[in-house]
Amino acid sequence: MNNITQNISALSQAEKRTFLKQILKQKAGNIQSLNLLAKADEIPPEYYNFHLYPEYLRLRQQIQEIEAIGAVNPYFTVHEGLNNETTIIGGQEYINYSSFNYLAMSGDPVVSQLAKEAIDRFGTSVSASRIASGERPLHLELERELADFIGTEDCIVYIGGHPTNVTTIGHLVGQDDLILHDAYIHNSALEGCKLSGAKRLSFPHNDWQALDEILHNQRRHYKRVLVVIEGVYSMDGDIPDLPKFIEIKKRHQVFLMVDEAHSIGVLGKHGRGIGEHFGVEPHDVDLWMGTLSKSFASCGGYIAGCKAVIEYLKYTAPGFVYSVGISPPNAAAALAAIRVLKAEPERVTHLYERSKLFIELAQEQGLNTGTSQNTPIVPVIVGNSLHCIQLSQALFQRGINARPIIYPAVPEKAARLRFFIASTHTEEQIRLTVNATAEELAKIQSSQFVKIS
Ligand SMILES: Cc1ncc(COP(=O)(O)O)c(C=O)c1O
Repeated sequence: MNNITQNISALSQAEKRTFLKQILKQKAGNIQSLNLLAKADEIPPEYYNFHLYPEYLRLRQQIQEIEAIGAVNPYFTVHEGLNNETTIIGGQEYINYSSFNYLAMSGDPVVSQLAKEAIDRFGTSVSASRIASGERPLHLELERELADFIGTEDCIVYIGGHPTNVTTIGHLVGQDDLILHDAYIHNSALEGCKLSGAKRLSFPHNDWQALDEILHNQRRHYKRVLVVIEGVYSMDGDIPDLPKFIEIKKRHQVFLMVDEAHSIGVLGKHGRGIGEHFGVEPHDVDLWMGTLSKSFASCGGYIAGCKAVIEYLKYTAPGFVYSVGISPPNAAAALAAIRVLKAEPERVTHLYERSKLFIELAQEQGLNTGTSQNTPIVPVIVGNSLHCIQLSQALFQRGINARPIIYPAVPEKAARLRFFIASTHTEEQIRLTVNATAEELAKIQSSQFVKIS
């Protein structure tokens, strides 16, 4: 007798039945695999040909619909110089509202000079992950400067704002945990949630009472709970009631993460963000996330927090450990931008004043600026995607560049033009823009058949 038959004869009747069932299941699996192989030549072409990829065909259809109304594709516009309060497109200068260069740091001579010097000393890439041989003094200086600016013990800098959220959220929580996020949270946080494998629930926008209730019912069912909100919301320009979120976080013993992509350099007297705006203790938020691509004239992202979490991320976060360190010119540009901001906090005041002026004038003209709270993100809600595209094109013909946000990025009723204000916009540029917007919108709304040449 061989080993298998010897072992089988030693089994009880019930064990023999289970063994037999397993063998049959295995055989069925093999037959199924054979069937799949038999059908291999019938695999539909859309499964292996990107020209027939259904998602791609849907995208093509959307682009064709925009072109069919005679509009120019509003995406991937080429800007031929600095993306600031003005920009050059197709050789023409436009007043520009499509840039996150809130404090005009990108293009600032001091920032550019320090980025150039960093290239001269360290080259254009650090050519390795920081944990291997990619560490440079600039990285540590930047992280120290950010931590001091925000008021935390330490900081970690990643190569992109989006990957910062994906890898940090994806790494810090897992299967037995819960993520609760604002309904308007950015895609980068949502991708991080997916990666983490944690249970994900959203609460209505800015509704801390709803969050409190969910936590009241759910907290006990999970180990760790991460609450994710933003400092200024990128579609609407509104601000959460941070002290309320902190109070809830403490009461339910959960982690709180604030994405400051649009609030660092923007809120607070010195641009230190939503924490400074509300005067909260920096350590009352566990994870301060931000990007370097907006107020800080660079490309990258950061998490600022306590030493323990930063050390853990530096040794284990996949998007950090298995990725190159931020490039020397990018690190130097961000470092320079923070130092310029510390020396010139009046840039933040100008930004606030210009944003407030835009909103006041727009409201005087009866434009719907939604819930924007004097931040540099000002939506003008049109409520119709086609009208939105038409308005954007009409303004473009008058020398004003503002981008439409249409369905499906927002619900059709919320289709809007989004104006990003910069500290360097002049009062005259803002008055001219608001007047032109009100005039062109009135024309579009009074005629269903506005022709765009
Ligand atoms: C709220 C928010 N978080 C994260 C990001 C990603 O930042 P980055 O563009 O620097 O990758 C953005 C980008 O616009 C954002 O708006």
